[in-house]
Amino acid sequence: MGAYADTYDRSITDPEGFWLAAARGVTWTKAPTKALDDSRAPLYRWFPDGELNTAYNALDRHVEAGRGQQPALIWDSPVTSTQRTYTYAELTDEVARFAGGLASLGVGKGDRVIIYMPMVPEAVVAMLACARIGAVHSVVFGGFAPKELAARIEDAEPVAIVAGSCGIEPTRLVEYKPIVEDALALTTHQPDHVVVLQRDAHRAELTDRDVDWADLMAGASPADPVPVAATDPLYVLYTSGTTGKPKGVVRDCGGHAVALSWSMGAVYDIHPGDVWWTASDVGWVVGHSYIVYAPLLIGATTVLYEGKPVGTPDAGAFWRVISEHGVKALFTAPTALRAVKRVDPDAAEPAKYDLSRFTTLFMAGELLDPETYHWAHDTLGVPVVDHWWQTETGWPIAANLRGIEPLPPKPGSSTVPVPGWNVQILDQAGDPLPAGQEGAIAIKLPLPPGALPTLWGDDARFIDSYLSRYDGYYLTGDSGYLDYDGYLFVQGRTDDVINVAGHRLSTGSMEAVLAAHPAVAECAVIGVADQLKGQLPRGLVVLKAGADIAEEQLRDELVEAVRRDIGPVAAFRDVSVVEALPKTRSGKILRKTMRGIADGKNEPVPSTIEDPTVLTALTPVLRPG
Ligand code: COA
Ligand code: AMP
Repeated sequence: MGAYADTYDRSITDPEGFWLAAARGVTWTKAPTKALDDSRAPLYRWFPDGELNTAYNALDRHVEAGRGQQPALIWDSPVTSTQRTYTYAELTDEVARFAGGLASLGVGKGDRVIIYMPMVPEAVVAMLACARIGAVHSVVFGGFAPKELAARIEDAEPVAIVAGSCGIEPTRLVEYKPIVEDALALTTHQPDHVVVLQRDAHRAELTDRDVDWADLMAGASPADPVPVAATDPLYVLYTSGTTGKPKGVVRDCGGHAVALSWSMGAVYDIHPGDVWWTASDVGWVVGHSYIVYAPLLIGATTVLYEGKPVGTPDAGAFWRVISEHGVKALFTAPTALRAVKRVDPDAAEPAKYDLSRFTTLFMAGELLDPETYHWAHDTLGVPVVDHWWQTETGWPIAANLRGIEPLPPKPGSSTVPVPGWNVQILDQAGDPLPAGQEGAIAIKLPLPPGALPTLWGDDARFIDSYLSRYDGYYLTGDSGYLDYDGYLFVQGRTDDVINVAGHRLSTGSMEAVLAAHPAVAECAVIGVADQLKGQLPRGLVVLKAGADIAEEQLRDELVEAVRRDIGPVAAFRDVSVVEALPKTRSGKILRKTMRGIADGKNEPVPSTIEDPTVLTALTPVLRPG
């Protein structure tokens, strides 16, 4: 581990020098003279005296450098049978005009804009337009229900919402406008404007507050990039925590631009002009970082794909896109590959396409099971690189650094800590554990540039959620171990966050929905292993005494309630009525123990259990057959 070890050591022993050097990859309106500001530790800030504009870095500077005619974004949308390519010059123009349009609606520096859109180029345009005028975007994933959207509107207090008229799912058209209206009926905060992109598949009815995207663009004059402080927020992205209230992860401008630009070369070995495809959604962090910002910041070409990995129109959709657009590397979630494998187990499809320019498959978002790893590796004959990170961190914590020193992969491991991330495995008391022993994965502070500086408007919750468990460390919420070669093996979450089809969800918020049903006395939702989606939520409910409802009806009502309050993305379908839930003597429900039993593990029964017979009675329900 020569080059890797050297780079990693420098990043840890001299973060100031390391990140100031990396900062030279970004164009500043005022170059930073200092990297780390630790004056408010444990709240750290990066590049405190730097000024820049992220959209300028992602667009204009490439045009100025002569890349204006290079494709910046290729939109491939099998669900609408459309493909469209934007050069850097064209995308810069679109963004500048939409930024001017937003400004004409009164959106200015520091104002929030909620973006609720499907995978269309206008979603990217809206994000970059906000960045151009110093507004703070908050993208909400289309699969969330009005109540979830409302929670984000209430917290972010946007001046404007930008929405698509609809999203297109394989089995149905999802009308977005009624979802926005239903959300706004729940919030006290009201935006001044809702800008609606009217799609051909469905045109929404507009009200007085609404502005048609096309009209706004037609009358808009282009806006220039506004320099902002490196420490100003670029976006807020809400993610599931252990409670029902989502956490508003803040991303700053300077640290983000520096870290993401650096990661493209170092982690992914992607360079200006390369074609790069992240098959995710702009509503998730993976979409923010690696569909939109990182590839554009370095002047690569990014593919924006609207569709599912299979069935639109065929089982070879992934390989068609790679071959047609000359994709050098693909980043997706294991669940997407499992979906592909399910319809093409013998891998007949890849052979039908020219994949000669394809060099690497990157995977993240959930545990990469060895079967999927081997299938992908054997099928494609390219390195399959698992890497691990989170919404909070914004970019990889552990990876196989393809641009620094590719290391031999070990299935089940996301390889080694990425430079900048001081990864430690801690025991209950906060002491570092030796190699091979599993514990809490924590990151020694300060976190590198690009990681969250705080939660939106809530430093106290940031400290309480992440920094208070172990003094001087950020708690990732995952457990795992480092092996004797320094490889990291992530084992899964230690809290009530689950990962369903690569989507991060809170079992706590699902429990809140179940608990609101009049027949439910008590409930628990646990994540159980699923062959396709990695995990699926499973509800266990205890009925109120005298509740008179058939189990099937209750199940239908609870499934509908979760769909209505959280959204279809929760994929909640499994409910069992049980006599009692296992608890500790202090009344805490033993979710981890139940999860372990459901997953077929031989979990030891905690000594704190109140009544072991409850667990015995539950075992056949948790593990049928
Ligand atoms: N808008 C509206 N509804 C959406 C949606 C969106 N953007 N995305 C998903 N949904 C709906 C789906 O239509 C489905 O609804 P249904 O219950 O009525 O069928 C439900 O939410 C569950 O969706 P999902 O769990 O995604 O299942 P799926 O069968 O639609 O797709 C995969 C399965 C594996 C193909 C898909 O989940 C996937 O590509 N996952 C990768 C996720 C990812 O990229 N994560 C980021 C880390 S890299
Ligand atoms: P999200 O914030 O949606 O990106 O989800 C982050 C969580 O997904 C992490 O805390 C992990 O639990 C899980 N995760 C992400 N990538 C991986 C990976 N490569 N291996 C195992 N778990 C992962």
